Amino acid sequence: MLTQVSDSKQGEGAGPVQERAERSAAAPAMPEGLRDIGINRVGPKHIADRDTPLIRDCWYVLAWSREVGRELKRRFVLERDVLFYRTRDGEAVALQNRCAHRSFPLHQGWLDGDHVVCGYHGLTYTPGGDCVRIPSDPNTRPRRIGIHRFPVKEVPPFVWIWTGDPEAADESLVPDHHWLNDPGWSFSSGTKHVGANYVALHENLLDLTHFSFLHAGNVGTLDYAEAPFTIEAEGDRVNIKRTLPSQALPALYDRPANLVGVRVDRTSDSDFVTPGWHAAHASFHDPAGTNGGRTRYRAEILHALTPETQYTTHYFWALARDFAQGDEGATSYIAEAIETAFEEDKDALEWIDHIQRTERRSGYHEVSVPADKASLRMRRILQRMADREASAVPAV
Ligand code: FES
Ligand SMILES: [Fe+2]
Repeated sequence: MLTQVSDSKQGEGAGPVQERAERSAAAPAMPEGLRDIGINRVGPKHIADRDTPLIRDCWYVLAWSREVGRELKRRFVLERDVLFYRTRDGEAVALQNRCAHRSFPLHQGWLDGDHVVCGYHGLTYTPGGDCVRIPSDPNTRPRRIGIHRFPVKEVPPFVWIWTGDPEAADESLVPDHHWLNDPGWSFSSGTKHVGANYVALHENLLDLTHFSFLHAGNVGTLDYAEAPFTIEAEGDRVNIKRTLPSQALPALYDRPANLVGVRVDRTSDSDFVTPGWHAAHASFHDPAGTNGGRTRYRAEILHALTPETQYTTHYFWALARDFAQGDEGATSYIAEAIETAFEEDKDALEWIDHIQRTERRSGYHEVSVPADKASLRMRRILQRMADREASAVPAV
C-alpha cells in the first residue's frame, strides 16, 4: 500500500511536519542575504550527499550482457576492481581483479578453459575464485588461497553484481525490467560515464522540472515544470507523478509515435527503486485515435546507476516503447535524442560537482524548493541505508 506523503505545488511553503521538524533540528540560522522560502535547506545529518558512503548491499548493473564474453575484461564498480568473463557454458563470472599473490590485475592474464591464469607468476584460479595452481610450487595443492567471487545475476540485457555481504545477495531483489525482454516492445539503449556522485544523478531523475530548461530542445516541453505533481512513498521507494492534459508531445516522442502536432493527455511518473535503479513510466492518451484508432501509448525509461567511485558513476539507460515496434529508424532516433539530453545532464552534474568540490564555503547551504520533495525523501532513504551499513559487518 502506497502512502501519500505530500501533494503538488498547492502546498508551497507548507512541507510535511516531519520535514519541518528535521529542518529545525539540523539547519543553523539562515545566513544573511538568503531568502528562506520555507521549504528546506539541506542539513548534513539526515540527507545523503556526494560524501555519503556508498550502499553495498544492493544489486547494481555491472555490464550489458553483450559485453560479457570469453575475453577477460575489467570494470571499477563500488570502489572494487572487478574482472568479468563468461565460462564455456555461458555463465557470467565476476572476480576480484587482483591476484592474491602480488596484486597483479588479472585482466592482464588469460583464460585456460574456464580458469584465469595470472599474467605475472601464473597462479591459476577457478571461476569460484579458488587458486588451483602455483607454477613455482607445482607439488603443493594450494589451500585457502583464493580471490573474492562476487555474486552475479544475469537478466538480459544486464549482468547484475552484488559487492556487499554475499549472504544477503537475494536474487529476487534484482529490479524488474521485463519490458526489455518483451516481444511486444522495442528499446533504445546506451551507456555514459558521469564525473559526479550517483546521489546527484538520482536527484536529477526525480526532479523532472529541469526538462523544461536543461532539455528544452529535445525531451522537454515548456509547461512541464509547472505541471502539478503528487509524491508517494512505500518503504524505501519514492514515486513522483505528473499529469499533463492536452499537451503536444516533445520531439523525443512525437515523430516515433506519429503524433506530431497532436494534443494528447500525458502522465509521467518516476520511481526511485533502489540505490542502483530508477524507473520512469510515461503514457500518452490520444482521444482522437489519430493512428488508426489507437489511443494508448507507453514508454518505460530505465536507469541503472552504478557508482564507480565515490565521485564517479557508470550510467546504463534503456528506453522501451510499445509503439513503432521493430522500427530501427525510431530506435536510433530515440537513442540520439536521449544521448543529447543525457549529455546535458552529465554536463550539468559535472559542473555542480566541480563547484561543490572546489568552492568550499563553511556554513553554506543549498536551498530547496517544493519540487525537491521527492528527491529530499530519496536522499533521506539513502542516508538511512548508509547508516545501517556502517553499523553492520564490513564489506568485502
Ligand atoms: S602476482 Fe599473480 S602470480 Fe604473482
Ligand atoms: Fe535530464
